[in-house]
Amino acid sequence: MLLAIPDILSKAEVARCREVIDQAEWIDGNATSGHQSALAKNNLQLPEGSPAARQVGGAILDALGRSALFVSAALPLKVFPPFFNRYSGGQEFRTHVDNAIRQMRGSDFRIRADLSATLFLTEPEDYDGGELSVEDTYGVQQIKLPAGHLVLYPSSSLHHVTPVTRGARVASFMWMQSMVRDDGQRTLLFELDTSIRELGARDGHGDPAVVRLTGIYHNLLRRWADC
Ligand code: NI
Repeated sequence: MLLAIPDILSKAEVARCREVIDQAEWIDGNATSGHQSALAKNNLQLPEGSPAARQVGGAILDALGRSALFVSAALPLKVFPPFFNRYSGGQEFRTHVDNAIRQMRGSDFRIRADLSATLFLTEPEDYDGGELSVEDTYGVQQIKLPAGHLVLYPSSSLHHVTPVTRGARVASFMWMQSMVRDDGQRTLLFELDTSIRELGARDGHGDPAVVRLTGIYHNLLRRWADC
């Protein structure tokens, strides 16, 4: 499932993030690449674990934790600290698949990447190109969202970022391990949870059928989740 989640950060929060990262030192994006993606990638990144990346990354993780939609869709178990990238002057990231396993440098923190996310930190009208193109079950999706919005997609998808031909595209990206490894099971749980919320809002949460459906949601989660 590919899902756009609006307003993870407010415009004011985006501006504060940009103030910090725009002043930081950027390095060649291939610092985090595997062998195949190093050939495909041409961009700049904040160094992993740099003070700016930690500060802004922490604020992003807090914001993700506050988003009921994000939590329902991702069912996150472990989120790798966010990275930041910048594309300009024709830079792009050609087609690749994200690495399955991510280990944090100098630590034993390791995740299986089930989901990838891009949080846009530049308004779409400020640059040309820079679409995130993801091949999902229903074909190729081209994604370019307002600043502060996030797109979540399976890490197993082939994807690329088209060349940025005007302006600069700044974004944060992250990988996460979900409590539910299988994308199909996770999608069913998300759709069930969304429907239960809608029914609850319409009929009140005390409706016995809504209570039974909520029970089914949790019993499926018990069956499928690792935590
Ligand atoms: Ni990627």
